[in-house]
Amino acid sequence: MKLVFPNRLALSAMAGICNAEFASKHPVGFAVLGGFNADRTAMKAAIEAVQRGRKEFIFKDPIDGIEEELKKLREMQFPGVVGVNTRSATLEGYTKVAELCRDYGAVIEINAHCRQPEFLSIGCGQELLFKAERLAEIVSACSKICPVSVKIRGGLGIDYISLAKLLKDSGACIIHVDAMIPGGGNDLQLVRKLSAIMFTVGNNSVVDYGSAVRMAEVSHLVSAARAVLKNENFFHSVLKGELARSVELVLE
Ligand SMILES: Cc1cc2nc3c(=O)[nH]c(=O)nc-3n(C[C@H](O)[C@H](O)[C@H](O)COP(=O)(O)O)c2cc1C
Repeated sequence: MKLVFPNRLALSAMAGICNAEFASKHPVGFAVLGGFNADRTAMKAAIEAVQRGRKEFIFKDPIDGIEEELKKLREMQFPGVVGVNTRSATLEGYTKVAELCRDYGAVIEINAHCRQPEFLSIGCGQELLFKAERLAEIVSACSKICPVSVKIRGGLGIDYISLAKLLKDSGACIIHVDAMIPGGGNDLQLVRKLSAIMFTVGNNSVVDYGSAVRMAEVSHLVSAARAVLKNENFFHSVLKGELARSVELVLE
C-alpha cells in the first residue's frame, strides 16, 4: 500500500478552523483536519479552552463529529491525502479515530504538539513528547489500524533523533515537525536530520515561495498554517516548481 500526495504542500492543523469546508479550498497534497478531540475528557478540555476565548471544534459526539468532516471531504472528492489531527486522554479515543481513518483512507495524526494548559493537564499534546513510552504505545496501537503521522514541536531540548527512531519503530510512517525556535525562526537542520530517518512534513514560518522551497530542500512535504489565515490563496501562490511535484510514500 502507498500514499500518493498530488503535490508537496500540506495544510497544517488549526483547531476550530481546519474542517472539511476550509480544507477543500486549498490545493494541497496533504490536508490535516482538526485538531479534533476524540473522547469526553479531551472534549471537556476543549470546552474549557473555548471559555477562555480559543477556537476549538466542539461536537456532541466526538467520533460522529469527526466522521461528518471525513464524509464531507470525501463527497467533495478532495484529491489529496487527508490527515486527522487528534487529541485524546484515552488510548481508545485514538484507536476509534484510527478506525475512522482506515474506513475513509485517511492518516491519523497524533497531536504531540499542543501546549494549551487544558490539554497538557490531561496528558495530551506536547506532554506526550515527555512521555515517549506512552506516545509509542499510542502509535503502535493506531499503526495496526491505519497509517500514522505524529505532529511534534521542536525547540524543547529533547533528543528528537531518538524520539523519531522510536516512533518509526513503533509504526509511524510520517513525522510532522513544527521546527519552531523559541523566540522566532525555524530549525531547518532539525528537519533535515529527521528526514534522514523517516518521511517528514516540515512546518513553521513557511510564509512565501522562498521559505517553502527552503523547507522543501530538507523535508518531504511542506506545511503551513498562519500564512493561510493571512492569505486564503497562499497555497495557490506557491504551488509551482519543485513544490508541485507529486510524492509517494510506500507503507511498510
Ligand atoms: C489558530 C491555530 C490553531 C492551531 N491548532 C493546532 C492543532 O489543533 N493541532 C496542531 O497540531 N497544531 C495546531 N496549530 C499549529 C499549526 O498547525 C502549526 O504547527 C504552527 O502554527 C506553525 O506553523 P506556521 O508557522 O505555518 O503557522 C495551530 C495553529 C494556529 C495558528
